[in-house]
Amino acid sequence: MGSGKITKIIEISRIYSKFAPVLYTTMDLFTSEKSLNTRLSISREQGNSLGLVPTMGALHKGHLSLVEQALRENKTVVVSIFVNPTQFNNPQDLVQYPQQLATDIALLRTISEDLLVFTPTTQEMYPEGLNTKTYSFNGLDRRWEGSDRPGHFMGVGTIVEKLFTLVRPSRAYFGQKDFQQLAIIRALVRLKSLPITIVGCPIIREPHGLAMSSRNERLKPQEREEASVIYEALQKAVNNATAKKPLSDITQAAVKKIQAVEGAAVFYFEFVNTHTLEPIKTLTNPKNTRIITAVDFKGVRLLDNIGL
Ligand code: PAF
Repeated sequence: MGSGKITKIIEISRIYSKFAPVLYTTMDLFTSEKSLNTRLSISREQGNSLGLVPTMGALHKGHLSLVEQALRENKTVVVSIFVNPTQFNNPQDLVQYPQQLATDIALLRTISEDLLVFTPTTQEMYPEGLNTKTYSFNGLDRRWEGSDRPGHFMGVGTIVEKLFTLVRPSRAYFGQKDFQQLAIIRALVRLKSLPITIVGCPIIREPHGLAMSSRNERLKPQEREEASVIYEALQKAVNNATAKKPLSDITQAAVKKIQAVEGAAVFYFEFVNTHTLEPIKTLTNPKNTRIITAVDFKGVRLLDNIGL
């Protein structure tokens, strides 16, 4: 660690008292559950609302918008940065996942010095080895990312449940870019009867329209611009659906448009029910319809979606 960008990193070992509230002048970084909980107990005793923004780092404007919303709605905000090994079904993907903690901290500091940043080790999160729990998500994990990346959502469920248990937030913030993940986290909260409000935040896009993602780091600027074809195809599909064209024709045209770009291969491009994520063959209820897509773009898996 020891980067010049982080002016002060504090592994909390202070003694807190509710009679002597501490004024934080530098961002606090916690690497252990114990130190984070010592700090959080102060907030809890003061009855403060607590927001959690779980991330895997490599932060971008999309993450920052989640943090900003969490800061508007809660007195205390925890941002977790942990690249969760159990959600990577492809070991190569895990190795290639960008890690840039010092830059992440510097970015967070541009928003607020008052954030509590939790950067646990793998040993801290998985003391008994990299085991995942099994959940019944009512079929929400059966298709799309679930079938293409076996075990992925069990890994996401496992780490998010661990974070929820540890932080006990009032609200937790996730981006709508990972639409299926958002549905699964809502299902997890219902399944475990957790008293947490899940806040789904709008997709933030790069100037040309590509949905922001940590994976975009792996694309050159020119390639990111070319990848905006995904958003263009989604927008066109919405227009065509509004014009009542058959959904199968719309999806075929969208796939053709995306795959006309060299190095782009569509995994799926589908109209789905917003709640069940089951495919829709005819459009009866636009409000409950979403178009979701995943594209292999020059070796990088890009996700996007749009409402009708
Ligand atoms: O969306 C992500 O970054 C991750 O899947 C999450 C929710 C932080 C769990 O590791």
